[in-house]
Amino acid sequence: MISVRDLEKSFAGARGEVRALSGVSFEVGKGELFTLLGPSGCGKTTTLRCIAGLELPLAGEIRIEDRPVFSAVDGTFVPPERRNIGMVFQSYAIWPHMTVFQNVAYPLAKEASRSEIGERVARILDRLSLGALADRLAPNLSGGQQQRVALARALVAQPQVLLLDEPLSNLDAKLREQMRFELKALQESFGITTVYVTHDQEEALALSDRIGLMQEGSLVEVGSPADLYLHPAHKITADFLGTANFIPAHVQRGGNQPGDEMLLESPIGSFVARRSVEWQPGMAAQLFFRPECVDLGEETAGADGAPNRGSAIVERVTFLGNAADVIMRCNEVRLRARAHPTRIPAVGQRVCFSVAPGSCMVFRADSSVDVRKRA
Ligand SMILES: Nc1ncnc2c1ncn2[C@@H]1O[C@H](COP(=O)(O)OP(=O)(O)OP(=O)(O)O)[C@@H](O)[C@H]1O
Ligand SMILES: [Mg+2]
Repeated sequence: MISVRDLEKSFAGARGEVRALSGVSFEVGKGELFTLLGPSGCGKTTTLRCIAGLELPLAGEIRIEDRPVFSAVDGTFVPPERRNIGMVFQSYAIWPHMTVFQNVAYPLAKEASRSEIGERVARILDRLSLGALADRLAPNLSGGQQQRVALARALVAQPQVLLLDEPLSNLDAKLREQMRFELKALQESFGITTVYVTHDQEEALALSDRIGLMQEGSLVEVGSPADLYLHPAHKITADFLGTANFIPAHVQRGGNQPGDEMLLESPIGSFVARRSVEWQPGMAAQLFFRPECVDLGEETAGADGAPNRGSAIVERVTFLGNAADVIMRCNEVRLRARAHPTRIPAVGQRVCFSVAPGSCMVFRADSSVDVRKRA
């Protein structure tokens, strides 16, 4: 439905050119919610604005439903108003001097008759539970209501594509979480192809069909939320998507195919992990697993020497409500685990830990967070 190929974009800065995008390529399927996730300044908004036609890229190609809307090769540039796109901006920019009705009707003003506008606006306001607020001035609304008005305005012209730039960032934590589910339900019921931008990894994991992780103007990795979270191919993905254990290790042996098992030696014992890198025997590596993937138990005899398990002393416990964050130490290596809130170990206690081989990934020891070196 949306295809972005080799997108390049620079801006003129005070100290020369600022490279905002280099070689960004991805595809979004019909009805899919695709999220661009990454730290501030990595190029998420710029990518979205290029798709909308609000920025002119230097190079590359953008197609929407098989129609080129931008191509650097033959000079194609379809203006924003002819791309059939609805967009909600980072600050959702609804007009304060207009009522809810007027705000939402605005995109239709040029093309539809008065009665048709009335009908279409009423229908969308109803869908977004804003019907009762139609005559209210926009500033006299709560944050969540304003956000829904912005969404209604983006959807009223029945676009093929919805572009959302951090639409929930102005809401408080509770409302943000609630709106996540509303937004996802709405997107699914409209079946509208959506590119969603956020720097909030939890939001990305909760909402997306697929996530593209961006860093310094490049797309690092694309995958489903579960895949990127549990089995990232790159260390920066592992790092950005949540808390992680990275354990220094050396490769003992491994298979030839991705997904084969590898055996590693580390200061906290030997580990069997999924093969996720090219390897040589003795190669320095980093073993990765999520705290949630660590099983904790009482100390038991006879576990010594078996791979993927060991014992550790609990150093710190932080109660989080739905879980407890446990930091423990094993042979000078800090490990992080999650404990069930009703089975929290005590500080100073010796506990057994184990991690399933399928939850362990391997990165090269020299994996840096600089994407240019990785390419
Ligand atoms: N109009 C502009 N002029 C000059 N530089 C710009 C302009 N717009 C963006 N940039 C630069 O391009 C890079 C990417 O910016 P972009 O707004 O796409 O980041 P972002 O990922 O959306 O960040 P945030 O999460 O903070 O919104 C940044 O270095 C930014 O400073
Ligand atoms: Mg932005």
